[in-house]
Amino acid sequence: MMNNPIKIKQIFENQEKLVGDLLHASCDYFSYEPTIQEYCSISNSKDCITFVASNERNENLGVLCKKMTTESTSEVIVMSVNPSYRRTGIGSLLLSTAESESIKNGNVYMMAKIIGPSQKSPPALNTYNFFLKQNYCLLAEYDFIWQDCYCGIIAKQIC
Ligand SMILES: CC(C)(COP(=O)(O)OP(=O)(O)OC[C@H]1O[C@@H](n2cnc3c(N)ncnc32)[C@H](O)[C@@H]1OP(=O)(O)O)[C@@H](O)C(=O)NCCC(=O)NCCS
Repeated sequence: MMNNPIKIKQIFENQEKLVGDLLHASCDYFSYEPTIQEYCSISNSKDCITFVASNERNENLGVLCKKMTTESTSEVIVMSVNPSYRRTGIGSLLLSTAESESIKNGNVYMMAKIIGPSQKSPPALNTYNFFLKQNYCLLAEYDFIWQDCYCGIIAKQIC
């Protein structure tokens, strides 16, 4: 963990810019501009909740967007931590904050779509390992949801 305190807060304005900045910083994982723009646009929608992680200098280091998909379930739509600050616990903090908020809203499950392990892409395997560490499990992998890429459906019972 880092010595600097990290604050997680929900943001209600300028989501698109903040999400865009943090996804552009993670160019190892987000390299396709139309996908970045799609996530930016989703972050601006009414039913999307955006959490940001910042340090004591108010630098934004990570972001997570989530949505309720059914009464029982919320979905992590996208998340990203600035590569220079990875493996310091920020992703875990963002995810646990999103899970707590979902539990408060009556959700039982949290899910996400990630690049599936069968794709054998190193950055995507890192992401998969991150979610495994947070006790998510792979429910299915499909090759027809995203073009040219396996989509892994992962989920966790959060309460
Ligand atoms: C996935 C991601 C959000 C993780 O954020 P993070 O702040 O680095 O995660 P944490 O520091 O909380 O990691 C917690 C644990 O997850 C596992 N983990 C995280 N990154 C890992 C990696 N690159 N390789 C292997 N395990 C990893 C480790 O067990 C880690 O604990 P440890 O550092 O004590 O070993 C970040 O790597 C990222 O932004 N990736 C690119 C975008 C992305 O994949 N988004 C998710 C899909 S939309």
